[in-house]
Amino acid sequence: MGYKAEFRVWRGDADSGSLQDFTVEVNEGEVVLDIIHRLQATQAPDLAVRWNCKAGKCGSCSAEINGMPRLLCMTRMSIFEENEVITVTPMRTFPVVRDLVTDVSFNYTKAREIPAFHPPAGVAPGEYRMQQVDVERSQEFRKCIECFLCQNTCHVVRDHEENKESFAGPRYLMRIAELEMHPLDAADRTRAAQSEHGLGYCNITKCCTEVCPEHIKITDNALIPMKERVADRKYDPVVWLGNKLFRRGR
Ligand code: SF4
Ligand code: F3S
Ligand code: FES
Repeated sequence: MGYKAEFRVWRGDADSGSLQDFTVEVNEGEVVLDIIHRLQATQAPDLAVRWNCKAGKCGSCSAEINGMPRLLCMTRMSIFEENEVITVTPMRTFPVVRDLVTDVSFNYTKAREIPAFHPPAGVAPGEYRMQQVDVERSQEFRKCIECFLCQNTCHVVRDHEENKESFAGPRYLMRIAELEMHPLDAADRTRAAQSEHGLGYCNITKCCTEVCPEHIKITDNALIPMKERVADRKYDPVVWLGNKLFRRGR
C-alpha cells in the first residue's frame, strides 16, 4: 500500500543552500532513489542527483540519508517509519556542485598518487605466477565500487579540510594494502603508506568499514595489516635487519 512521506532535501550550490520540504508518494518496494526520481518528475524537475545503475554497482548515488552516508539506490524506504521525516543531503566531505551532486575529484587525485603494480625486474608478464591464496586475499578489496562513502565518512578528512592533502583516505590506503599483499609487487608500499599517504592519521575508528556497501572489512583486513607491517619494519630488529640485507627492489 502506498503512503505519503515527508522528505527534506538539500537544494543549493557551492555558494549557498538550504533544506527544502516535500510531501511525496511512496509505493511498496521502493528505494530512496525512486523517491528522488518522483520528486524530479512531479515537483522539482531541476533537482540534481548523480546515479547510473540503480543496482548498487556503479557507486554514483552516494549521499547522506538522515545523516548516514548511504547509496540512494540501495536504501529501502521500508527501513523508515511511515511518519518519519527523511532528510537527504549531499556527501559532506566533498564540495557541492549542485543539490545532491558533489565534486569527488579529491578521490581521483589520490588514486593518481599511488604508483601502479610494479612487477620485479626480469619477469615478463607471461611468467607471472602466484598462489590461489594470494589471489583470494586481494579479491575482497577489488569488490570496491568507488562510491567514496568511506572517504566521505572518515573523520580525518570529514572534519578537517586541512588533512586532505596528506591523507589518501581508507579507499586508497586499501589500494596500497592490496598492492603490498601482492606477492609479485616489488615497490616499497609500507614506507609510502606511512610517509606519503597518511596511514598514521588513521586511528582505526572503523567508520569507513561500517558504511561500505560492499561490506569490505577495510579496517581489519587492509588498514590494520598495513599498520602492523609498518610497525614490524620500524621496530622489529629481525625485520629491520632483513630489510637492510634483502631490501626489495623499487
Ligand atoms: Fe565504497 Fe567500500 Fe569502495 Fe569505500 S571501499 S569506496 S565504501 S565500496
Ligand atoms: Fe578513518 Fe577508517 Fe581509519 S574511518 S580513521 S580510515 S579506520
Ligand atoms: Fe549505481 Fe546507486 S545508482 S550505485
